[in-house]
Amino acid sequence: MRVLISAVAAVLGLNGAFVHAVAHYKDLAPLKFEHPGELFSKLTSGACCAEGVVTSGNSTGTTKTIDGVSLYIAEPPNKQTDVAILYLTDIFGVQLVNNRLLGDSMAKAGYYVVMPDLFNGDPIPLDAMGGRIPAFDMAGWSRKHTTEMVDGIVASTIKTMRGQLGVKKIGAVGYCFGGKYVARFLAPGKGLDAGFTAHPSGVTVAEWSAISAPLSIAFGELDAANNVTQRAAAEAAFQRGNKTYQTNLYSGAEHGFAVRTDLSDRRKKFAQEGAFFQAVRWFDAWIK
Ligand SMILES: *[C@@H]1O[C@H](CO)[C@@H](O)[C@H](O)[C@H]1NC(C)=O
Ligand SMILES: *[C@@H]1O[C@H](CO)[C@@H](O)[C@H](O)[C@H]1NC(C)=O
Ligand SMILES: *[C@@H]1O[C@H](CO)[C@@H](O)[C@H](O)[C@H]1NC(C)=O
Repeated sequence: MRVLISAVAAVLGLNGAFVHAVAHYKDLAPLKFEHPGELFSKLTSGACCAEGVVTSGNSTGTTKTIDGVSLYIAEPPNKQTDVAILYLTDIFGVQLVNNRLLGDSMAKAGYYVVMPDLFNGDPIPLDAMGGRIPAFDMAGWSRKHTTEMVDGIVASTIKTMRGQLGVKKIGAVGYCFGGKYVARFLAPGKGLDAGFTAHPSGVTVAEWSAISAPLSIAFGELDAANNVTQRAAAEAAFQRGNKTYQTNLYSGAEHGFAVRTDLSDRRKKFAQEGAFFQAVRWFDAWIK
């Protein structure tokens, strides 16, 4: 401000006394919001995404079954397993190619990605998207895939990752349905080191309150499953508990935007890319 005033004064040919008087205005709250600190010297995501993201074609990972759980696995370029992402899908499961491609992109960003089949081969059929199977029995499907059953699959996958697969640090991502389990497994002793979720479904305030490791959330403005009241309740829970967290709200973004959206809409396209980079940067900061 002072520099600007000096420059304007110089242009106008004003004398030094006038500039001096203007520059000494009274600040009613002197330095109240100022504090010492460092300026970042490098971006933590320098190595991220140099190879870009995968947006089309088929996935390139492999599938193996360990302890009765089918796992889709995407390896990073260096093939290392020590830093991994546990990918918890939406209701369309590992069978939806978007989920596998998003997992492949995370592998390109340097993470060993493990995506369990949360539904034992019984995800919501892709045809049900957009109400194309109007009679799809959602309630009946939910009864077949209880929280206890999904908890069991997630716990088994974490055990496999820490054991047989040699993983040292696990960040979990969860989209829609999977988001609830990111929160549940961030509770103390459940085995996650950090988490990210986009448009999570059905997470309770008790589950948000119980997290004990860093959590980042991508919310969409148009997602009725995470309305303003619910978002505020989550943030209040994090603040009460002094959690390490981040919440981003993307305008024009609907439920499901981070996995499948209308890329011809600039706001939705930005939201989807933003959610991906948000996840990668979060894990670069907290588990790498
Ligand atoms: C794509 O990959 C999936 C899973 O590996 C496989 O089941 C499917 O047949 C593949 N589709 C094509 C068109 O190659
Ligand atoms: C948000 O959703 C909750 C749960 O359905 C509801 O109780 C609350 O009134 C909603 N808030 C707004 C602002 O719509
Ligand atoms: C909040 O957490 C930070 C980071 O773990 C810690 O340094 C700080 O002391 C905590 N603050 C309170 C009030 O517990």
